[in-house]
Parts: sequence; structure tokens; C-alpha cells
Amino acid sequence: MSVKNFKTVFTSITLAFCLHPALSSASAPKTHSGSNAPSYSRTFELYVDKDGNIKVPKDYRTTFIFLGSFAVPGGDSLGGLKQLHQVYVDRDSVEYYKSHGDFPDGAILVKELQETTAANLTTGHASFWDQNAGWFVMIKDTKGRYQKSGIWTDGWGWALIAQEAPTVTTNKDTSTCISCHTPVKKTDWVHVWGYPLLEAHDKISTLNAQ
Ligand code: HEC
Repeated sequence: MSVKNFKTVFTSITLAFCLHPALSSASAPKTHSGSNAPSYSRTFELYVDKDGNIKVPKDYRTTFIFLGSFAVPGGDSLGGLKQLHQVYVDRDSVEYYKSHGDFPDGAILVKELQETTAANLTTGHASFWDQNAGWFVMIKDTKGRYQKSGIWTDGWGWALIAQEAPTVTTNKDTSTCISCHTPVKKTDWVHVWGYPLLEAHDKISTLNAQ
């Protein structure tokens, strides 16, 4: 190795040590219990404006908990997917759900829509993320906070949010949401049985119960 190369490698290693949080003594370890932890207790402060409009939490992919996915077929003739629905929840609602069997006031569920593409991989004809296509967000409200807004009904705030405008709720009412979520009315309008962390798989027996 030439002296020049050695210097470059040495500098890179030194930089890596300084920048990597786990290796640097200068940066404090990051925990999720700090005041910035996205918890249902801060949902109304962080993601809802005074009129009840809902926005997508900015860093939900890294700060929320990934709950699970639903795969929608029909992408191509080989069985590829049309869409993937990836669902995230604020960090503390999972524990709450497991101990209470329901969601707390402020629980926030983010369903991310992904358009997919497919390729022949070594696992088979597999579908994977291609582009984002917007979000559906639900926020639990046990207090009836936004009487004047049309998007807060049946114990939840319901928002459809377009990819190009993550801070804008596009729907004005909840009629389409409610009619499509009626099959899961018995599980507080949420498809809880689809998410391993909630340990509610047996509740699929209530699907379509009115
Ligand atoms: C065409 C029917 C349909 C409509 C319309 C619809 N949903 Fe859903 N939604 C579903 C189904 C089915 C699932 C779970 C399976 C999936 O995503 O493929 C779901 C899942 C969700 C989830 C993830 C939590 C859960 O229930 O498992 C959120 C959040 C959500 N919907 C919000 C909304 C909101 C807000 C609206 C209205 C703006 C809405 N949905 C309209 C059918 C619908």
C-alpha cells in the first residue's frame, strides 16, 4: 500500500470511529424513551392541527414500529403484486394493546401504499418496492376532540394523504373509510389479526361480524 493510500484508509477508519454513534464516546447513546419518542401521548401535539387535520409523521419508518403488511395481487401475469401495504404504529401502542386488548387515545396507525415491481430472483418471481403512492392514517380519539371536522368519527380520525403533500389531509369525510372498514368493526375498525406484534390472530373469527 502506498503512503497516500494508507493515509486515505487511515482517515476513513478514523472518521468511521468518530461518526459511528456506537463507537464514539462523544455522542450519547440513543434511546427511545427520550422526550422525542413518538408515543400516543404526543400524537395530537405532533400530527394533528387545531382543526383536526392530520399529517404523516415525518420519520415514521425509523421511529415507529413496523406492524405488518398486506399484499395485493394483480401486478403481472406471473403472480406479481399490484401493491404492498406496509403498516406502522407509534411505539407505545403495541404494549398498550397487548395489555388492554385495545388501542389507547392517541394511537396512530400509518398505512403506507407501495407500488411494486417484480423480478425473477433466486427465491422465485418476487415483488418489491418500486415507488410510494401515499398514505392512510388513523388516530384514536376517545374524547371527541374535533366536533367540527368531518374526518373524526367512530372513535378515530381518518385521513387519506397524497404522496406529493404529506402534510395535507385530502378527504373531507369518512364515508369511504367506514364502509370499507365495516368488516372489522368488531376489532375497533382495525385489521388487528394481520399484525404479529398485536398477538390478535384469533380475532380473525370476528371478520365480517356486525
Ligand atoms: C377499498 C376499501 C378501503 C377503503 C376505501 C379504505 N380502507 Fe383502510 N383498509 C382496508 C383494508 C382491507 C385494510 C387492511 C388490508 C390492506 O391494507 O390491504 C385497510 C387498512 C387500513 C389501515 C391499517 C390499519 C388496519 O386497519 O389494519 C389504515 C390506517 C387504514 N386502512 C386507513 C383508512 C382510511 C383513513 C381510509 C379512508 C380515508 C381508508 N382506510 C379507506 C380497506 C379500505
